[in-house]
Amino acid sequence: MPAPFSDGFRQRNRVAEERLAGLTTFRIGGPATVAVLDDRADLAEAIAHAPRWLGKGANLLVGDAPLPQPVMRLGRDFDYIRDLGKREGRSIVAAGSATDLAKLISHCIAAGLAGPEGLAGVPATVGGALRMNAGTVHCWTLDFVSRVEVVLPGRDAPEWIERGSMAAAYRCNGLPPGTIFLGCELALEPGDPAVLKERGAKLKKAKADTQPLALPSAGCVFKNPSKETPAGRLVDQLGLKGCRIGGAEVSPVHANFIVNPGRDALAMDVVRLVRRIRRTAFRERGIVLEMEVEAWNCPDELRAHPSELPDESSGRPVVRSSGRQDLTDACATPNASGDPTTGQTDDRTTGQGQ
Ligand code: FAD
Ligand code: EPU
Repeated sequence: MPAPFSDGFRQRNRVAEERLAGLTTFRIGGPATVAVLDDRADLAEAIAHAPRWLGKGANLLVGDAPLPQPVMRLGRDFDYIRDLGKREGRSIVAAGSATDLAKLISHCIAAGLAGPEGLAGVPATVGGALRMNAGTVHCWTLDFVSRVEVVLPGRDAPEWIERGSMAAAYRCNGLPPGTIFLGCELALEPGDPAVLKERGAKLKKAKADTQPLALPSAGCVFKNPSKETPAGRLVDQLGLKGCRIGGAEVSPVHANFIVNPGRDALAMDVVRLVRRIRRTAFRERGIVLEMEVEAWNCPDELRAHPSELPDESSGRPVVRSSGRQDLTDACATPNASGDPTTGQTDDRTTGQGQ
């Protein structure tokens, strides 16, 4: 059992026992002690509990058993957007990590500041978006960031790190695993608010047209292995759309999404479905699919090489819901550039060609 939070911490912040299924977009996850850090003065005590840091829970698969560590969410003191005026010709906007990314995007659009609208439709807190370097086909979160406020692993005090010294890449922030993101400053060019709004709306519509946004999921499960072979197309070509284990299903809409349509999937249902997909992709095409979704309190096999995965002989029954064919943390991308000046490229959905 983790040590209890001090009385003072509990008075200034919020601590409760909660099921993480209620705090993740997958609607999966067992019970945990969940603290919301409202008072920045308690940061060191929060860190001393070695918690897992939770944003909007939109990129997480959490196991069903009780979580041994406490879970920390950033609260009041980290929920802000501030216009800081101009620096070197660009407008500086500061945002705390608890801020909803959608709110930050709306703020920038209304202020006529271009860039963040390219992330429209990505469900995230600012902290989760920084940690994941969340992105779309157009851009990544760290494209617009000039510096981040973080606590590096092994430390308990915040510091600012310039974006130029972060070797960020596709879905990777370039800082050591375990870095805590408290906030950031964006450096933005001007843009016409009407044009930015229209662009954001188009991106949201494109997502809604191609992704199963109405059902619980954690977004794309796998990183794209290459530009030529996006994971969704690969899983689709392998005939796995609609494949179901227990309550977890490969989305018939987008094959890189696993959905939880009945809100009754167990984490192990998802793990077994992931196992099936990764084994099939390796057997049929020699491709190693890597998880994009972060897993807490789940079997280590999610990171294992597919050739080492066990077969799916136990557990809940396998059902098919569509008529398709039968089934029988440092940045890993070697050629990714960390240069923020490279700006947008044609395809920001892999590390390829950056
Ligand atoms: P969480 O899921 O809460 O956490 C993700 C990871 O970040 C965890 O390891 C957590 O410990 C860590 N973390 C969270 N906050 C902090 C912090 N302050 N400091 C340190 N670590 C922290 N992603 C994309 O990139 N592009 C998309 O287009 C996209 N579309 C999606 C669509 C849907 C319907 C869904 C459900 C997800 C989608 N995702 C997409 C995935 C998700 O939106 C992103 O990964 C997002 O960045 C997650 O942010 P979060 O706040 O929910 O982080
Ligand atoms: N495709 C199929 N079948 C499918 C799904 C996709 O054939 O079931 C094909 C599409 O037709 C397209 C190609 O695969 O030719 C790529 O698909 P898509 O345009 O949907 O893009 P993606 O690479 O699958 C990426 C991000 C998404 C992001 C979109 C839009 C990754 C892993 N995914 O998807 O991010 O929303 O681009 O910008 O990089 C996420 O990270 O969670 C996520 C949803």
